[in-house]
Order: sequence, then structure tokens, then C-alpha cells
Amino acid sequence: MKIHTYEKLWLVAAMVLIVGIIATITYGTVGLGIAMVDDQEDTISPNDLGEDERFSDPRVEQVGENEYEAYVIAQTFTYQPNPIEVPENSEVTFYVTSRDVIHSFSLVGTNVNTMVVPGEVASITAEFDEPAEYGVVCNEYCGSGHHDMEGMVYVLP
Ligand code: CUA
Repeated sequence: MKIHTYEKLWLVAAMVLIVGIIATITYGTVGLGIAMVDDQEDTISPNDLGEDERFSDPRVEQVGENEYEAYVIAQTFTYQPNPIEVPENSEVTFYVTSRDVIHSFSLVGTNVNTMVVPGEVASITAEFDEPAEYGVVCNEYCGSGHHDMEGMVYVLP
């Protein structure tokens, strides 16, 4: 049996499309030198953040040659630490929790975007390949100051 050339082309095109869709879902590539790698959750007591070794001192910590962890607290209507500073060519895992109500941690112009729920630690890993500035905004209505809830991530050269 002989498959017509055009049919083969369509088959190949369909395969490429399917693989592309799966890759997009799996890796969530967003361009602009940043890619989402991972996204998962963990639990915590929102009233005891002061006793949690990660969140008693919100900060960015170097954990490998090009690997960093950022421990971030969202609360009405701020993020700590702010700004968050990381070097270029780094892989950063953000661990974000809330001290009060539901917020989000969303890097403008990227798909680094996670809901921040009190009692849970959202974690999201991103690769920063080049110097950049990203605004951090809250996409979940959290009260009168919601629209002013902002932070910054600086990717430094
Ligand atoms: Cu925090 Cu809206």
C-alpha cells in the first residue's frame, strides 16, 4: 500500500502539532528568556510563619551553582521580600505562602502565575536567562488594596 505524499505531509504535520501541544502543556514555555519548569503545593500553618524556617525570614537563598530559592510571603497588600533579586542564567524556585487571605503571585508578561492560599505553600520554578525586570501582581481580589498589591523581580546581569 502506498500513502500519498500529501497525506504523509499531513500526518507529519499532525504529529508535530501534537508533540508541540504536549511540550507546551508540560513545559509551559513563555518566551522572553523565561520558562516555567514546575508547579506544586505543600501545607503550612499561616499563623506560625514566624516559626517556619523558610518564612520567618522571607528571602532569596542560593542553593546551587545557578539555583536559587525564594521564600515569599504575600499578605494584604504586599509581598516580602520586595524587590526579589536574582542573577541572570539562574533557575529560581519561588515558594509562596499567604499570611491572611487568598492572593496570587503573578509575574507580569510570563506564565509564572500561582494562586497563594493561606495554609498552602505554592511552589513554582522558573529559568531566567537574561537581565529583566518583572512586575509582580496579585490577580485574586483580596480587599481594598488589591489593585495596589505589587512587587518586583529583578534579574540582574
Ligand atoms: Cu492580594 Cu489581590
